[in-house]
Amino acid sequence: MASLAPSPPREAFLLSLLTHCREPSQLSAFHSNKTRRAIPKISCNASKNDSKHQTPKTTDAKTSKFDRRNMLIGLGGLYGAATTLGGGPAAIAKPTSPDVTQCGLASVEDKGKSMTLDCCPPKPSQFVDFKLPKSYGHNLKIRPAAHLVDKTYIEKYNKALSLMKALPDSDPRSFAQQAKVHCAYCNGGYHQAGLPDLDFQVHGSWLFFPFHRAYLYFYERILGSLINDPTFAIPYWNWDHPDGMVMPTFFNDQNSPFFDVNRDQNHLPPTVMDHTYDGPAKEHHMPYDEQIKQNLTIMYKAMVANAKTPEMFLGAPYRQGDPPGTQPGSLEVQPHGTIHNWVGNPKPNTPFWEDMGNFYSAGRDPIFYAHHANVDRTWSIWKTLSPKNKDFKDKDFLNSYFYFFDENAQPVRISVRDCLSSRKMGYDYQPMDLPWLRSRPNPFGRVRKAPRRILNKVFSGVKNAVAADNPPVTSFPQPLNKVIWTNIPRPIKLRSKKEKEDEEEVLIIEVESKGDVYSKFDVYVNDEDETPSKENRSQTEYAGSFVNVPHKHRHGDAGNVMSTTVKFGLTDLMEDLGADDDEGIDVTFVPRTGTESVVIKDVRIEFLN
Ligand code: C2O
Repeated sequence: MASLAPSPPREAFLLSLLTHCREPSQLSAFHSNKTRRAIPKISCNASKNDSKHQTPKTTDAKTSKFDRRNMLIGLGGLYGAATTLGGGPAAIAKPTSPDVTQCGLASVEDKGKSMTLDCCPPKPSQFVDFKLPKSYGHNLKIRPAAHLVDKTYIEKYNKALSLMKALPDSDPRSFAQQAKVHCAYCNGGYHQAGLPDLDFQVHGSWLFFPFHRAYLYFYERILGSLINDPTFAIPYWNWDHPDGMVMPTFFNDQNSPFFDVNRDQNHLPPTVMDHTYDGPAKEHHMPYDEQIKQNLTIMYKAMVANAKTPEMFLGAPYRQGDPPGTQPGSLEVQPHGTIHNWVGNPKPNTPFWEDMGNFYSAGRDPIFYAHHANVDRTWSIWKTLSPKNKDFKDKDFLNSYFYFFDENAQPVRISVRDCLSSRKMGYDYQPMDLPWLRSRPNPFGRVRKAPRRILNKVFSGVKNAVAADNPPVTSFPQPLNKVIWTNIPRPIKLRSKKEKEDEEEVLIIEVESKGDVYSKFDVYVNDEDETPSKENRSQTEYAGSFVNVPHKHRHGDAGNVMSTTVKFGLTDLMEDLGADDDEGIDVTFVPRTGTESVVIKDVRIEFLN
């Protein structure tokens, strides 16, 4: 039961969302004395501290909530029966939702100074509940792949977006307001309904996919209505296919509304995108084929190997009272987050990235909506890959909701249960080949037959080079100020096929990172390479990455220390390495960027179903 009393300060952490902020590098030594790498330290500080703009905190919490509830019930008359209205008292069920009656100022750091930023939409005075169209499946809008659209389509989208940009900023349908939606929902503009001291956050949890789906849904409807074409469908950036692994060229047309000056100038077309992007100080410049291979491996990991359970793919449950955004799903971390960074512009001489490279400004770049259309598409695709890939049935998931303005500037409340099927909402995606499905990686090292010894026993030559000057870590927490590795025992080995289908063996890593530092590290399992600083993410041993997108929340942030948990699938990986009879695994952590303040708090194996 969530307490109604003001909660203690909470930290939050957001994974995978862009960042901003970058600072010239600091040199950090890797374990190998011949390898020194520039590590950009990214101070991303899209935080808020606007208590003076809120209802005074001294107000009795129960009283103020009660008041708000009355107010909302009085609004449309449609919602009197709802038990979890914005600002309503904590009910027995614990879905979490924003209190839109109390949107507050966001603050971002600009050249070292905190600035407040008003990301709030016009205050909704009356809202309606979203209703799915009565009949669906006919006349579906089809969102096209951006690299395949023709001139007529681009002209149409151009016109719609120009009209949206021409609306006065005060109009909730305007592009300026659409962009602010992301800021308000990601930078602590809203607190959790019923919990004025806890931010509402749409990243790093099971809300990630539904929130962004609803966001794009209304964005698309507004565009369609501005050109009187209800069939208009936004394009998706097909970055999971080699043909789409470049910024769609029309977004780079300076004389169009699609253009945004705040993009990394080194990543404009025809630069091939990098799903493993480690920051501007470490551009990879790998051969085309290798880059594509790595990108497809990242996709395979995000969609298959690290997405074996709903929680692994969709993100973990996020209920009323939970700290915001601590357990993102696989795809949200990478490539979703790395693509934000790859597109965003690291501003010279400042620690900031804009627009895509930062939460508060990501929605200002028109490419954001194409990026997220593809993210949305992956949600639909994931559910077709296995009968086990299903949405949560949990009521707290289904009953969480958000608010948007529709094409008539009418505020609408939409709950997650109405966002589960794009087809029911009236749209689908132009089909494309999914080459990443065929991109299950192969081992880099030899496939071993002999069992691995576990820690404190002889290491049978494995890791010998590393172990010589970088012995294994035997306890956690451990700072990640260099390559570190450990060996952890496996609770069960050689499970049956059925057991493996029922439960995924999962490597769980708990991470603490500083809120104003952007950080990324890679995780390798049983990597026998003597130089784990190699940037190889196309082989079996690469388990996945942690991407910390710093984000100070409006409430809390004591010490600006944030926690998150990432999860990597081990079942296929161990089989592919021929290591399924091993009693333990070697886990190597390779810092990639901004890890000076990262601490690995815990590493363990669990079984998830
Ligand atoms: Cu709300 Cu790509 O993030």
